[in-house]
Amino acid sequence: MENNVFEQMAKRYDTEERIELAKVIVKEVRQELQNSKSSSLLDYGSGTGLVSLELADVVDSILLVDSSRQMLEVAEAKISHKGIANSKVLYSDFTQETPEMKADIILLSLVLLHIPDTEKILQELYNTLHDGGKLIIVDFDKNDNVNHPKVHNGFSHEGLKNSLSEVGFTSIKMKTFHHGERIFMHQDASMFISTSIKK
Ligand SMILES: C[S@@+](CC[C@H](N)C(=O)[O-])C[C@H]1O[C@@H](n2cnc3c(N)ncnc32)[C@H](O)[C@@H]1O
Repeated sequence: MENNVFEQMAKRYDTEERIELAKVIVKEVRQELQNSKSSSLLDYGSGTGLVSLELADVVDSILLVDSSRQMLEVAEAKISHKGIANSKVLYSDFTQETPEMKADIILLSLVLLHIPDTEKILQELYNTLHDGGKLIIVDFDKNDNVNHPKVHNGFSHEGLKNSLSEVGFTSIKMKTFHHGERIFMHQDASMFISTSIKK
């Protein structure tokens, strides 16, 4: 399974480059979480929590979900080491089975590119949101220099907007917010943030 890649890299995932990139993402996502103090955040594909564990102060609770147990072990160690009281982890893969739960906000940071069936996962996440809930996606813009059999080479804004809208999301917004050198499979690339609302 592709996730084995993440199992193998969990203990060495937090490199200086990934931490720097996560800081850029945190800054952007934080702006989307104004007035979310009473909201539950589900960080889908949380990895080691590089992004969401920096956002624990602006939401009510965080559930870090990942299909790699080892990534979650690293996240759990951070939660206990830093004494973050409102965050916990859950091992799950919604592409296989989606647990019965609801969240006010779902975040996917650099995860959608790893999931082959985009519309299926968007549908599962839609079902998991409360009515009026918000989906925040951070990922790479479509990049023709990237070519990997198991990874989407980014997303076009138009294509992803169509997929979100097909699933039922409304108020879809998308913007490119960062350009960086060698940040996407060693290629120069740009990242977008998308927000949309469950009707
Ligand atoms: C590139 S990492 C991003 C980690 C984190 N969101 C961040 O921005 O630092 C992708 C993560 O998605 C997880 N992942 C991949 N496919 C998944 C799936 N189907 N369900 C849940 N998590 C998945 C991987 O295990 C990995 O931890």
